[in-house]
Amino acid sequence: MSGESGIRWKKATARAHSNIALVKYWGKREAVPKGLNLPATGSLSMTLDRLHTTTSVAFRDGGPDEVWLGGTPAPGPAAERVSRFLDLVREQAGVSGSAVVRSWNNFPTASGLASSASAFAALALAACAAAGLEVSREGSSRLARMGSGSAARSIFGGFVEMLPGSRPDGSDCYARPLFGPDYWDLRLLVAQTTSRKKEVSSSEAMRRTARTSPFYPSWIRLVARDIREAREAIGRRDLDRLGPLVERNALAMHATALAADPPVLFWSPATVEILKLVEGLRKQGMRAYCTIDAGPHVKVLCQGEAAPEMARHLEACPAVQRLTECRPGPGAHLLPEQGLSGSCEGVGESGSSTDL
Ligand code: DP6
Repeated sequence: MSGESGIRWKKATARAHSNIALVKYWGKREAVPKGLNLPATGSLSMTLDRLHTTTSVAFRDGGPDEVWLGGTPAPGPAAERVSRFLDLVREQAGVSGSAVVRSWNNFPTASGLASSASAFAALALAACAAAGLEVSREGSSRLARMGSGSAARSIFGGFVEMLPGSRPDGSDCYARPLFGPDYWDLRLLVAQTTSRKKEVSSSEAMRRTARTSPFYPSWIRLVARDIREAREAIGRRDLDRLGPLVERNALAMHATALAADPPVLFWSPATVEILKLVEGLRKQGMRAYCTIDAGPHVKVLCQGEAAPEMARHLEACPAVQRLTECRPGPGAHLLPEQGLSGSCEGVGESGSSTDL
């Protein structure tokens, strides 16, 4: 099949790993075209080896876009979000075909497990390849950002920094890799507390926080400082400096959101129980620190050698429904096409729909 501009269209499949921010993105630049999705600040993350999304995109002549998530047709709003994103690719590639998109997570889609990060990073890579559009890693990151801000970081593996940029067109707003996955044996133990979906989307919660929280201006100032310090602490592999900073940054994000009108509260009693458990273990000498995203789950940061003991404590905690131990993972990549027709290679036992 070929497009108007003579570009070859084909099917392409990509995998992207989820990431967790060590310094959070929480707030967008206002007064810019909405579709650009520009963050108000930078952020810093670790890409995770165990949680990923696999997405295939095929363009065809005619018909509407078809979007399948975890083997079932995507609900209207999710399908529209994917179609709007594909329009960006179609526009850049100069093609007009409709797309068939199939996407799977190897982890249960749930609140705050960052599935939109892996989802849009995988979609960006697969859609560009299927449209015959050659883009740099930086370009893929910029594109993924327009789907979801955190997705820009999932293009890269290991430790990643999102640059906020300052140009109004967003051309200098993308992620860059700081250190590869093998740089430091850190672990994030993802303690899932529920399988319920979150009630407020990150975008809506951020908007509300930016517009109404009296703490928002301080939050913006704090993030710039935290990124500088986190970058330095990672550069020295200094967990005693990084860990407390990561926990404080997450708590500051939630405090800022809590002060919004109406308040944004993502936590459940299980969230507090895990925070208290980790605090108690720290008092006994364990070096472990928490971070929390737009949901009730808690991710615990520790060194590789401390992970088995930390995992035992978390598994014994009634607040933890499911525990996944993650190491720094790889960047997004294309997968070979053979053997993929009709099903998706590498989908885990709990293949589920992506959070688009
Ligand atoms: C708390 O990337 O989901 O996980 O750009 O509106 O799609 P949109 O937001 P999203 O927000 C992520 C928020 C966070 C912090 C982070 O990952 O940096």
